[in-house]
Amino acid sequence: MRTKTGGASAARGQSIQVDVHVRPGDALRALREEALAGLCGRPKELSPKWLYDERGSQLFDDITRLPEYYPTRREREILEQRAGEIARLSGADTLIELGSGTSEKTRLLLDAFLKEGRLRRFIPFDVSEAFLRSAAERLAREYPALRVHAVVGDFERHLGQLPRGGRRLVAFLGGTIGNFKPEQRARFFQEVAEGLAPGDGLLLGTDLLKSRERLFHAYNDGAGVTAEFNRNVLRVLNRELGADFDLEAFEHLAPFDEEHGWIEMRLISRRAQVVRLRSLERSVHFEQGEALRTEVSCKFRPEQVEAELAGAGLHLAAWWTDRAEDFALSLSLKR
Ligand code: AVJ
Repeated sequence: MRTKTGGASAARGQSIQVDVHVRPGDALRALREEALAGLCGRPKELSPKWLYDERGSQLFDDITRLPEYYPTRREREILEQRAGEIARLSGADTLIELGSGTSEKTRLLLDAFLKEGRLRRFIPFDVSEAFLRSAAERLAREYPALRVHAVVGDFERHLGQLPRGGRRLVAFLGGTIGNFKPEQRARFFQEVAEGLAPGDGLLLGTDLLKSRERLFHAYNDGAGVTAEFNRNVLRVLNRELGADFDLEAFEHLAPFDEEHGWIEMRLISRRAQVVRLRSLERSVHFEQGEALRTEVSCKFRPEQVEAELAGAGLHLAAWWTDRAEDFALSLSLKR
């Protein structure tokens, strides 16, 4: 691990610390491996993490403002109402945020925690060093009372390296937990719990089961933004692996899978075609109508969330939903 301190805020008296657990070539190596396994196997599948290059992150931001896409607004509604309660109940002096350390949701939490008067430390955890560094420096300037200790890592590999000490609350918001399939999710809860001490907590955002129609429209919006977001992964493969995907030759479809209780984002090949992955020295064949799965987004029943958390030793202390009961935030504590 590399540790660096300083940055723009150091000149003004505060300093940030940045721990780096990923090396520069890691992401490309992982993409090459996954593309090889995921595009050559059957059914074809890629991890949703490749959707988020700069353009993809911008497109996701656009999604959060679509009329059909409710989760972001619902979660914000809950945070606006409950941030104070979250701060009090958790009693945390250290807030750890997994993924995205710049959003307004972070500020809602930080403001409420600082009002309670116990918060000392903020630990944003993200996979992108450049993004995290600028976010951490901005936050350190805006919140001079706070020690900002950023951790660059992958939450499937580096959760064990979270800084220790104090009373900690880990926040995992946005419904991103929905991207994990059940086995991966169980492992994630286990690893979070293992890193926590008795009294530490997890603040988790989960999207709830609702009518098929609303779920469908949230992921198949009228303006086609989600379709663009989905197809963007093919741009990423073209750029990073020298592939020659024709974006127009793939159709976006995100049906709700009743059996698994998840939305599944797919790119459907409009015709039989062969795609070349130049830097892997491989070609991939698609049949007409064949699907490439690019994401699952699980939707939950409240009892299920509670049981899975308890299975990892995290016991529900509070459960909040928005007025429409579309989305939930849970606070669970390690015993
Ligand atoms: C960022 C994973 C919470 O699953 O709703 C939005 C991503 N995919 N539209 C979600 C997403 C298609 C989003 N998460």
